Amino acid sequence: MPCKNDQIFLRALAGESTARKPVWVMRQAGRYLPEYRAIRKNYPNFLDFIYASEAAAEVTVQPVERFGMDAAILFSDILVLLPPMGVPLRFEEGRGPVVDKPVRDMEAVDSLLPVNVDSHFAPIGKTIALVLKRLQGLTPLLGFAGGPFTVASYMVEGGSSKELRNIKKLMFQDGRAYCALMDRLTAATYEYLFYQAEQGCSALVMMDSWAGYLSPEDYRQWVFPYTKMVLDRLRSNIRLPIIHYANGAGSLLPQICSAGFDGVGLDWRVNFGQTLAAWPQQVFQGNLDPSVLYASPETIRSRTHSLLAELGDRPHIMNLGHGVYPDTPIAGIEAFVDAIKG
Ligand code: CP3
Repeated sequence: MPCKNDQIFLRALAGESTARKPVWVMRQAGRYLPEYRAIRKNYPNFLDFIYASEAAAEVTVQPVERFGMDAAILFSDILVLLPPMGVPLRFEEGRGPVVDKPVRDMEAVDSLLPVNVDSHFAPIGKTIALVLKRLQGLTPLLGFAGGPFTVASYMVEGGSSKELRNIKKLMFQDGRAYCALMDRLTAATYEYLFYQAEQGCSALVMMDSWAGYLSPEDYRQWVFPYTKMVLDRLRSNIRLPIIHYANGAGSLLPQICSAGFDGVGLDWRVNFGQTLAAWPQQVFQGNLDPSVLYASPETIRSRTHSLLAELGDRPHIMNLGHGVYPDTPIAGIEAFVDAIKG
């Protein structure tokens, strides 16, 4: 179904002022929603859930139907690239993603498999088709992938990590293996994002969540060139708008904003006003602290209104500074969305 370009999300992303700001929330399809939990309980294995197209399509549209979000985001995960690359992955309750055989040397990088998106991701293509049918061209669907560095960090660390010590060790002790891994992930990330665009997504998000763990200098040398390669390859092959998100990456913004992304996600640690002033032409997304949604509706409303006041007419995509927490009260999301929609 062709996407209507009068959707305020796409207009804001294109740099147009809109009568009100569009809003969506990272991880909007998730455990804080009872209707999500009701479906989630049928799939003990999280990856099975992602590949169950009907169920994945259902949870993708849930937050659009409940809150009237201005964008849907495909229900999937940045780590779906691992199994097709030959890196088994499981999600453990309370622990998150686990890679039992982390990739930590050249031999492991050499044994990674190339991703064939058409055969590996057919169920995700089917989910996209089902979601597009449900959205009827009224709400854009966002496809997404991790940034190559963030996905690499899970492969090398073996799961979530506090310090990213193993991937940094690889970087500094065996730069050749690190770069070979990043080359593989750059190719796979491009292919996967291109696939989602081809299947009908209206915009793409690259989530390089852990890039903020690097110094600006290391980011410039070890991460940005790969991010930029994915972006530039997408630019030469598709016309969709592309958003970048990284957490804790305020000091990397000079680099990220130089890349040419249509939108750049901000977390709550940045000074919002100063950031807007420093990059007057960049469309940003964010940046309410997700924990503000634990506050009273009045506090949420006033925090949201402060952001809107700083923005004035400037195009912007309202969102949180990171994904919504699983124990967020529904009333918190409602107050946030209501403050924007008025
Ligand atoms: O609603 C949406 O945003 C769409 C779906 C989505 C998920 N993960 C579903 C998910 C998206 C966009 C992601 C992105 C993602 N996944 C990121 C980047 C954004 C960010 O949050 O920084 C990262 C780093 C991951 C990796 C990942 N997936 C982790 C670390 C975990 C475990 C932590 C946790 O929250 O449990 C996941 C699991 C996951 N992915 C869940 C969901 C809804 C929770 C699993 C469940 O329902 O049991």
